[in-house]
Amino acid sequence: MHYFEYKDNELWCEEVPVKAIAREVGTPFYLYSARTFTRHFNAYRDAFKKRPHLVAYAVKSNSNLAVLNLLAGLGAGADIVSGGELFRALEAGIPAERIVYSGVGKTRDEITAALEAGILLFNVESPGELEVISEIARKMDKRARISFRVNPDVDPKTHPYISTGLSKNKFGLSMDQAFDAYLRASRDSALEVVGIDCHIGSQLTDISPFKDAFDRIKLLVNRLESEGIRLSHIDIGGGLGIRYNDEDPPLPEDYARPILEAMEDMPHTLIVEPGRSISGNAGILVTSVLYTKTTDTKEFYVVDAAMNDLARPSLYQAYHDIQPVEKKARGTATVDIVGPICETGDFLARDRAVQELRPGELLAVMSAGAYGFTMSSNYNSRPRAAEVMVRDDRFQVVRERETYRDLIKGEHIL
Ligand code: LLP
Repeated sequence: MHYFEYKDNELWCEEVPVKAIAREVGTPFYLYSARTFTRHFNAYRDAFKKRPHLVAYAVKSNSNLAVLNLLAGLGAGADIVSGGELFRALEAGIPAERIVYSGVGKTRDEITAALEAGILLFNVESPGELEVISEIARKMDKRARISFRVNPDVDPKTHPYISTGLSKNKFGLSMDQAFDAYLRASRDSALEVVGIDCHIGSQLTDISPFKDAFDRIKLLVNRLESEGIRLSHIDIGGGLGIRYNDEDPPLPEDYARPILEAMEDMPHTLIVEPGRSISGNAGILVTSVLYTKTTDTKEFYVVDAAMNDLARPSLYQAYHDIQPVEKKARGTATVDIVGPICETGDFLARDRAVQELRPGELLAVMSAGAYGFTMSSNYNSRPRAAEVMVRDDRFQVVRERETYRDLIKGEHIL
């Protein structure tokens, strides 16, 4: 569910016509709907309200300060994976005690900053990392709260690049490795063992892998209890998919139901780390057609957004629905929608049937709120796009379009 809708054949975001924003801001730009973010976050809050829980929004999916601040106001925590995300989350007003820190490669500086801030916990992904956290905490005269990220070895049945819970993936510890690590950590006075964590992959459209992972986690939780190690937090990660095309993903309440049932007799605080299912359909990318071009075999719409703005189609062959901002009584063309970047891999869609368009007209790349701007780059020295947020009948630029000066910031000629 989202608030990008057509009124009289024109695309609106909440109560603002997209065309009016484009006129003022220029293209390309990312456009976010505050109401949609709120709705998606509240769906999680309501789904889990029966038990103590924390919705730790995955900052990597969309880390704009305005987005984080909006979610902070709704009671969100944050799942972070870098010092930069820690900085953003704190700047946006997410309390440290609602921040969990995941990731296989936390540096000493990042660990120090997180301990200084007083985050809720580290999701520890290797024995080496455990040692470093312990050493730093001891030096700082602190106790670091930790969970182990376990790798339950279940197949999430999603794109291989975004599968994380298989034993061949780089993430987490195997169940047996984790058991040993828990024993070791529980004897370390610089550590407070508080939880267990897993994240099996992203864009999952079936609930069964989540259930399988949870069952495996529960076995380990019980085994640890019989050793006298009692955990207070269980983190089941993120990963719930969204509709990009014709997927039919479960709603947060459907996803919650089996977990709540399995946890009925368990006192733990549940942590979830959703990213895409909160931000994905809360944002679009608006781009203008620069040229239409026909070769011997194909027709192309060259637009002003490119793979540097939205990498997902090039990187994962991901499908994003693409709609004209103004629907007109015209024919349909089957075209490749491509950007100006000098690579054949620079496309937003291939062989896509869209309304015939002319240069200057606007297109909306749908479901671009997650892993859109956050994965964008300056490739081909293209300034990154502006980000705009709509709330009801008002819109605001929440990140300015980069300038050419921004492109060379920090560079020096010898
Ligand atoms: N927690 C952890 C530890 C994660 O690694 C991730 C995503 C999440 C939570 C949030 O997962 P979500 O709810 O958004 O599925 N760039 C890719 C997606 C990469 C996901 C990485 N980890 C894409 O554009 O599809």
